Amino acid sequence: MSLLSPSGGQTVLDVTLGLGGHAEEFLRRTGPDGQFYGVDTDEENLHFATDRLSLYAGRLHLFRANFQHLADIGLPTVDIVFADLGVSSPHFDLPERGFSFRSDAPLDMRFDRSSGATAAEWIASCHVSTLTRTLSKYGELREAARIARHIADALPQTTFALRDAVRKAVGFRADAMLPRVFQAVRMAVNTEIDALESLLAVSPGLVKPGGRIGIISYHSLEDRLVKNVFRKLCTAPVDERTGQDLAPAEWSSLTKKCVVPTPQEIEENPRARSAKFRVIQKNVHI
Ligand SMILES: C[S@@+](CC[C@H](N)C(=O)[O-])C[C@H]1O[C@@H](n2cnc3c(N)ncnc32)[C@H](O)[C@@H]1O
Repeated sequence: MSLLSPSGGQTVLDVTLGLGGHAEEFLRRTGPDGQFYGVDTDEENLHFATDRLSLYAGRLHLFRANFQHLADIGLPTVDIVFADLGVSSPHFDLPERGFSFRSDAPLDMRFDRSSGATAAEWIASCHVSTLTRTLSKYGELREAARIARHIADALPQTTFALRDAVRKAVGFRADAMLPRVFQAVRMAVNTEIDALESLLAVSPGLVKPGGRIGIISYHSLEDRLVKNVFRKLCTAPVDERTGQDLAPAEWSSLTKKCVVPTPQEIEENPRARSAKFRVIQKNVHI
């Protein structure tokens, strides 16, 4: 919050509303008349957050949408764009959402349960080479090809069937690999990298001069993407012939190194352990 610095009367856009935890703090700090725009693709989370934030109804604008299509929502320019990527706790904690290998349930994994292929359908529609690429890229698994072959043979319909296919492929080492296999399938099913690329392309245009963009990511591929796009935005355009700056950079970085949770924070909230937070600010040119 101190890096994003929300203050009275500002307009905030949170594209990953989730259960509304960050939203509540934004609303508190931008009172009494700041406007809050919240987006989430998950209907259940949106309902939960709507109830939680009902106290602020007069300045609350919530949308059920995928931030991959942010440009279609018709949003105003804002002072702060915030994203806290990936899954929320209920995704893991409610077995019926099919994200967890710890309880048996249909293999779903969609943030938006009203559209798109479930994880089981996605696997069934995949060539084994696509599955291998997914496990290798999003799961960073060296044995991606072997695991992919077993998954493709098993055509799992449930979380336990996917878990068992991985166990068959790599034996006792499966337990260490399951989180990464499930993460990789989840990222593919929800086209998470495509969505982030689109968010990074559209959000700079939504920010007022002096405004900020802050993104928390939980995967090295996501953090690399955020880092590279932010670095580009913070670089002055250069005349290729003379090497001179053509104009000042449009943005400045407020986090030269990404912000990570303290050991105490990780102890209190282990799900934050891989979080990386980066913030940039749009320069005001006079
Ligand atoms: C880590 S949680 C956010 C938690 C939130 N900051 C809070 O304080 O409760 C991420 C949320 O983003 C949503 N989400 C993930 N990808 C999305 C996308 N492409 N478009 C919209 N919402 C998305 C998920 O449904 C989930 O509710």
